[in-house]
Amino acid sequence: MSEVRVYSTTQHQARACADRLVSIAQQAVSARGRFMIALAGGGTPRLTYQLLATEEYSGQIDWRDSYVFFGDERCVPPESRESNARMARETLLNFVPVPLNHIYRIHGELEPQQAADHYEMTLRDFFERRLGLGSPQFDVVLLGLGADGHTASLFPGTPALHAIGRWAAANEVSALKSWRITLTAEAINAAANVIFLVSGAEKAQTVKRVLEGPHQPELLPAQLIRPENGSLHWLLDAEAAALLTSTHS
Ligand code: 6PG
Repeated sequence: MSEVRVYSTTQHQARACADRLVSIAQQAVSARGRFMIALAGGGTPRLTYQLLATEEYSGQIDWRDSYVFFGDERCVPPESRESNARMARETLLNFVPVPLNHIYRIHGELEPQQAADHYEMTLRDFFERRLGLGSPQFDVVLLGLGADGHTASLFPGTPALHAIGRWAAANEVSALKSWRITLTAEAINAAANVIFLVSGAEKAQTVKRVLEGPHQPELLPAQLIRPENGSLHWLLDAEAAALLTSTHS
């Protein structure tokens, strides 16, 4: 299943995303006794995380039975302002009762390949050894979209786009003159739900190219994201959706 939803403001968009995450979490916990999420980094999800941390929402997810992973991380220490884990702590994780040993951050402070291998082992220990699954079946992976068409840290023309048999990869992003650690497309596509949360006029052209243009994932890595058995949800604000031709409710 794939859907595109457009919201008039980023506040409405954040609320819709929070409601979607609550619904997925409640279904997961009632069906399997646990909720497994991979959080997005960057700036767009902040509003959603802050909403989930409020009195109104925090009781709606069974955080004690939740397991929090990350879609990607910068190769920086956890206290760095650049760290996605720090952003998630400051907007959400410090305010909900998720046990600390249920948070699996990517160790960006390590050498890139070491950090990727550590995250790979963490994922395989959790999903293969503990759950007996053959793939990282997150209940939801939350993603952003860069104006260059990247998602997580799958950037155009970078080696991680072609990672085979890996769930996590170190990725040298020459455009940023830096390394990143990222879930691979193979890992993301194993999820039950993938939510792209995209806002702002600066993303409109890219949203149109990704959703309505030719399939060119080397240039637009977000097009690699096609959940094998899961659902794909695009939650856009009006500015990011402004150039789409087909109508989306
Ligand atoms: C990161 C994210 C990245 C982000 C996009 C959009 O580490 O920055 O994983 O993929 O989602 O770059 O970023 P904004 O939400 O800040 O526009």
